[in-house]
Amino acid sequence: MSAPPRVDAIPQEHVSPELDLAVRALLQAAFPATEEFRRGRDFRHPARAGDFLLVGHAGERLVASVALYFANATPANAGAVAGERFTLGCVGNVCSDPDPAFRGRGHAAACVQRALKVARARSAVAALLFCREGLVPYYERFGFREVGNELWLRDPSGARFLRDWHDRRMILPLQHPEWDAGQALELDVGSF
Ligand SMILES: CC(C)(COP(=O)(O)OP(=O)(O)OC[C@H]1O[C@@H](n2cnc3c(N)ncnc32)[C@H](O)[C@@H]1OP(=O)(O)O)[C@@H](O)C(=O)NCCC(=O)NCCS
Repeated sequence: MSAPPRVDAIPQEHVSPELDLAVRALLQAAFPATEEFRRGRDFRHPARAGDFLLVGHAGERLVASVALYFANATPANAGAVAGERFTLGCVGNVCSDPDPAFRGRGHAAACVQRALKVARARSAVAALLFCREGLVPYYERFGFREVGNELWLRDPSGARFLRDWHDRRMILPLQHPEWDAGQALELDVGSF
C-alpha cells in the first residue's frame, strides 16, 4: 500500500531557490509540450508575500504542486465603497508528476485540499480558479462550480484589463454558500 500523500504549505517568502527550481521543473514536466499548455509550462505564479506554495512529496521527490494567492475583490461596476471589498483565494499552477507512479495517486488533490484549507483559515470568501474545459469535472470533485462573472484584473502598476480567456472560471464558496455569479469583479492581481 502506498503512503498517503504528504503536503506542506509554505509561505512564498520562505520558498528556497532550490524548491523554486524544482517546482518550475515539475511544471515543465507536468504540462504537455503543446501550444495549449505552453503558458502553463513556462509560468510559475509570481511569489508574493502572503501567498502560499503547496507541495506534495513522495519520499524525497516533489510530485505535486499548487500555488495559492490572495486577491482583493471589489465590484467592478460601482464606485467601490469600503466594506464591499473581500478576499478570494486563487488556486493556480496545479500539477502532478506525469510519471504513472505518481499521477492519479491523489497528490495533486491533496495539494488542492490543503490550499482550500489555508484559504478558508485566512478568511477568503471563495476560492477561484481557471481551467480548460476537460478539467471542469476534476475541480467539481472539490465542490468548485463554473461561474460567469466578468473579471477585471488590476496589475501592480494600476493598469486594469479584462480577464477574458477561453478557459473556464470556477468558484468554490468557502464561508457561506451564496455566490453572485452575475457580479462583475475587479481583482488586484495582474495574472493567473
Ligand atoms: C490535472 C492534474 C493536476 C491532475 O492530477 P492527478 O495526479 O491525475 O490527480 P489526483 O491524483 O489529484 O486525482 C485523481 C483523481 O482525479 C480524477 N481525474 C483526473 N483528471 C480528471 C479529469 N480531467 N476529469 C475528472 N476527473 C479527473 C481521476 O480519475 C482520479 O479519480 P479517483 O480518485 O476517483 O481515482 C494532472 O493531470 C496534471 O498535472 N496535468 C497537467 C497540468 C494541468 O493541466 N494542470 C491543471 C491546470 S488548471
